[in-house]
Amino acid sequence: MSAGAVITTLPAAAKAALPVIEVEDIVTRFGAQTVHDGVTFSVGRGTLVALIGGSGTGKSVLLREMIGLQRPSAGRVRLLGTSLWDATPGELEALRRRFGMMFQDGALFSSLTVAQNVAVPLHEHTGLGKATIDALVALRLLQAGLPVAAGAKMPSELSGGMRKRAAIARAIALEPEILFLDEPTSGLDPITARAFDRLVRSLVDDLGITVFLVTHDLDTLLGVVDRLIVLAGGKVLADGPVREVMAIDDPWIREYFSVRRTVGPGPGCPQPESARFSP
Ligand SMILES: Nc1ncnc2c1ncn2[C@@H]1O[C@H](COP(=O)(O)OP(=O)(O)OP(=O)(O)O)[C@@H](O)[C@H]1O
Ligand SMILES: [Mg+2]
Repeated sequence: MSAGAVITTLPAAAKAALPVIEVEDIVTRFGAQTVHDGVTFSVGRGTLVALIGGSGTGKSVLLREMIGLQRPSAGRVRLLGTSLWDATPGELEALRRRFGMMFQDGALFSSLTVAQNVAVPLHEHTGLGKATIDALVALRLLQAGLPVAAGAKMPSELSGGMRKRAAIARAIALEPEILFLDEPTSGLDPITARAFDRLVRSLVDDLGITVFLVTHDLDTLLGVVDRLIVLAGGKVLADGPVREVMAIDDPWIREYFSVRRTVGPGPGCPQPESARFSP
């Protein structure tokens, strides 16, 4: 019996505890520049995790490495137990069906309708017939908070918030177990951004999806995120529950949150207990 078969025999509770994302000792170099110098963390199923860090600290590069679009100089990434760089093409293809990605700008195909956009992964990865695909597209639009009628529109006919919802609908088309989001609320007005936060939270709570997002949005962090990973100096500077990480007495963390703070941990807030901090 293979290791994979053993895992499927575990009871649900034990399966829930297995990490779905494992990032191990990632090193990324571009010429003489070292962007990541040993980045390690893992994420359990059904968690909403945010990655933050200053501009140029390598968040987007790490995200690309985590979905197999870019190979790190060293280290390993395992998604749902499959090692990205050791997998066979068949294993990778099977894995790709199990995670979704929403790029920063939504990246919808401008020449396709919204419904056609959402249908792309279904055509690519399944042998489903048109009627089933149409029904699934309608379901995904509703799950993303769009009316089914929006499917007939071109992306250019949608507002920014609706475009992001359409991109989410496409990213969840195959009912992924992990969803990666790059700055999902950037460019949205605060009301639309908060509605989008609630949508992402519901994907975790109602559908059990594990969400890993890059954000600079403090309201997202304070409102819906379970866990915060801070990337600085090529390493994980801190990792833990959001308010505990915010309370860490470190110059970078103090400055990052002081310029963004609308609601802080406050003087009565307990000092960090479970957050990992490696200055
Ligand atoms: N293909 C590449 N070739 C050379 N350098 C690269 C390449 N891709 C990224 N870099 C460099 O790696 C560093 C990290 O880039 P990255 O885009 O991951 O930053 P980021 O943390 O996402 O920043 P921001 O918050 O501004 O989006 C930058 O210095 C960038 O110039
Ligand atoms: Mg970036």
